[in-house]
Amino acid sequence: MLVHLAAFSHARTFASPFRLPHALDTPSDWSQIRHHVHSPFPNWLLDCSFLVLSRYFNIRVLCFFYLAIFTLLTLLQPPPIVFQHFNPILISKTRYINMSDTVLSPPAKPGIRRLSSISTTFEDLALGPSVVVPPEHMSKPSDAHETAAAMEMAKHRLRKRDNRAGDVTPPTPVDTLVTDQYAFAFDIDGVLVRGGKPIPQAVEALKVLNGQNEYGVKVPYIFVTNGGGKTEQERCLDLSRQLELEVSAGQFICGHTPMREMAEKYKTVLVVGGEGEKCRAVAEGYGFKDVVTPGDIIKDNKHTTPFRKLTADETEHSRLRNFGESEIDAIFVFADSRDWAGDQQIILDLLMSKNGRLGTRSETFDEGPPIYFSHNDVVWSASHPLTRMGMGALRVSLEALYKSLTGKELVSTAFGKPQIGTFQFATRLLQQWRKDTHGIDAPPRTVYFVGDTPESDIRGTNEFNASSVCENQWYSILVRTGVFEEGTKPAFAPNATVDNVLEAVKFGIQREVDKGLKSKVQQLSQQQEAIMEE
Ligand code: G3P
Ligand code: MG
Repeated sequence: MLVHLAAFSHARTFASPFRLPHALDTPSDWSQIRHHVHSPFPNWLLDCSFLVLSRYFNIRVLCFFYLAIFTLLTLLQPPPIVFQHFNPILISKTRYINMSDTVLSPPAKPGIRRLSSISTTFEDLALGPSVVVPPEHMSKPSDAHETAAAMEMAKHRLRKRDNRAGDVTPPTPVDTLVTDQYAFAFDIDGVLVRGGKPIPQAVEALKVLNGQNEYGVKVPYIFVTNGGGKTEQERCLDLSRQLELEVSAGQFICGHTPMREMAEKYKTVLVVGGEGEKCRAVAEGYGFKDVVTPGDIIKDNKHTTPFRKLTADETEHSRLRNFGESEIDAIFVFADSRDWAGDQQIILDLLMSKNGRLGTRSETFDEGPPIYFSHNDVVWSASHPLTRMGMGALRVSLEALYKSLTGKELVSTAFGKPQIGTFQFATRLLQQWRKDTHGIDAPPRTVYFVGDTPESDIRGTNEFNASSVCENQWYSILVRTGVFEEGTKPAFAPNATVDNVLEAVKFGIQREVDKGLKSKVQQLSQQQEAIMEE
């Protein structure tokens, strides 16, 4: 149906079943009229009515009749809408460039400009894809925009098909538009980075999301990693270097980020994992008042870990205090432990203590401080070709040791993916990020989550998507560049599996284009049926 409507307006280029012998001889009459008059009616409606009436009335009479009607209407009110070209991806409502500057700047490649029907000139129209709207429609799209979208979809596809011979990749548009319909969320290790080095397709994938795509649209994205051990700002700096683009802390979550919301709950906390003093700095940055490290405890009592002596640097940076006088209220494992034996010894000392006072032993082994892990990944993908043990493995080991030492099950809490709380946190961060950077206030219809670990990335996305707290669709895409090994059956089934992050981005964008097209075609055929029934 769409293609035929498009065909109708571009008579010269297509053999269409609706061919009207004499009308097509003077196609320019009708299409000239339709192109240069302002009509409150959608083009497809005009085309159809013309199609029908031209069977009963002389074409020229009909053209003058339409012209008279439209001129009358134009005189009666400011011209509402003119349909011109369109970028399919924009089927979804997009952010609109403001009129004053961008419109008259050098024309962008594909992507729609909204031009005011009052001030726009033909020259502006020729400057590239645009929809001309009445001034009051500049801020909010009318549904006619949608119909234009569908019209242009056919033209866009047809043009693409015709250009196939000289297939040129469009340069990065100057003022790309941003879609508000969908967004991406990326896991990091095994998707964008491996062992600190960027995965080859990662840089390209983000360029595509930043507008270097055939649709000239930007797609907002955030990063959700279970990794940690540094401040979010530091991790963003690393990622910026690795991916050769700007990464803001406003679009970044790591395993321990949600733990900041517990800073007011505990006075003295033990923070475990990571390099040197980094995790203490992260915790203090979150607002934790009194942060202790395993190094501080060993400095106070070197007998704590018989086989683990502090290095000179650790001795210098660890803070001396008398732990016989203070209680530790909670234990936070922020990042992968660099000393499993020493860290587990100190954690078990506290878990089996009375109220978190080192050197004491509880009779019931249930008076110790609570323990929180920033995630539960048993394995992760680092520079080694095979997966490496992660924080989740330390947790399993601690549970086993606690059980063997106390006969009791260790109760502990894990943050990070696949916890629903982390995806709720990600939803809030994405909302704020899109608002701050693109002024988009409505939640995206779909969030594509790209991950490499079925147990955390895919399970978390699927369970969040199915949960009552999820407002939109979270779509899980599994890549083959990390933990997931080809030929194995993922423990949690993704919505899609692709080779790498670039394929994941292309998959998501194409799915949105097709989704947009599909809903337009449906809408148009419904309207067509409605007209036919009248
Ligand atoms: O230590 C981090 C690792 O377990 C996984 O990180 O980015 O894949 O969530 P990521
Ligand atoms: Mg990963």
